[in-house]
Amino acid sequence: MTLLKKLVSSIQISPDFLHQVFTISDYMARIIRQRGRTDLLSDKVIALLFLEPSSRTMMSFQSAAERLQAGILFLQSKETSSLQKGESVEDTMRVTAGYCDMIVARLPKAGSAEIAANACSVPFINAGDGSNEHPTQALVDTYTIRQALGRLQDIHVALGFDPLQSRSIHSLVRVLAQFPGVRFTFISPPSLRAPDDLLNELRSRSIEFFETEDVSSVRGADVIYLNRLQEERFTDPKEFDLNRYRFKLTKAMLSDRTKLILDPLPRIDEIAPEVDDHPAASYFRQAHNGIPIRMALMCLLLDRV
Ligand code: CP
Repeated sequence: MTLLKKLVSSIQISPDFLHQVFTISDYMARIIRQRGRTDLLSDKVIALLFLEPSSRTMMSFQSAAERLQAGILFLQSKETSSLQKGESVEDTMRVTAGYCDMIVARLPKAGSAEIAANACSVPFINAGDGSNEHPTQALVDTYTIRQALGRLQDIHVALGFDPLQSRSIHSLVRVLAQFPGVRFTFISPPSLRAPDDLLNELRSRSIEFFETEDVSSVRGADVIYLNRLQEERFTDPKEFDLNRYRFKLTKAMLSDRTKLILDPLPRIDEIAPEVDDHPAASYFRQAHNGIPIRMALMCLLLDRV
């Protein structure tokens, strides 16, 4: 049981909430292995509104809802909905809330998840709002780190290569920053440095972080967390072209210290395919963890566990 009914930002994810989600996710993973599905949400309808492209988040929410035997409503693009006619996100949420028991929404504009959540009268999950936040990805990422290392405290995490625009990096840093002994190294060109508000949050909590352009500094990290340059968010295409191939993880950059390599995916140029068979490379397992995590989250917000 949780009092949380609308997950908009990873700021809402406390260590206690994380523990609750992980415990239920372990239970859901057992259900998937043993019998594939359960009827915990068989009387519920979940609306999936994905107004920005998605493969993993959309399909893992769909798969999670299917495995919980919920009904699913889809709204998959602005172009095929009345948003195209000029209807506001708020009105879309108000109407959709009358058709379902929970809304999961991916929205293109940073900050729009909060507006959407405030407009809807049913539980709400932010599935990524522009370059702002991706809180369910942070749940998946921390679950994968805990599985691999057995802890979330006392780890050094290197993050690249677009900390400015990667919502997955923003959300992960905010969750991990609550654990003692966590250190961050942000790797990016100067134009893609992590946003000031995020860095100021770290400074205000006296959390150690370092910024560099040197990709080989991943050597000192326990966890390497990479995300593609967010091409669709660049205002200057030349800036993207300039950095696209400069920031790439190769096998030669890994060290004995490297315990885990993660990427929320899609992988474009940030990780060379030769890294895939390294024992620390865990990005495909990370993507599969999206199902038990999202099953757990939907059940928690709907008071079914
Ligand atoms: N990790 C992630 O958000 O991937 P998608 O954009 O494919 O959903």
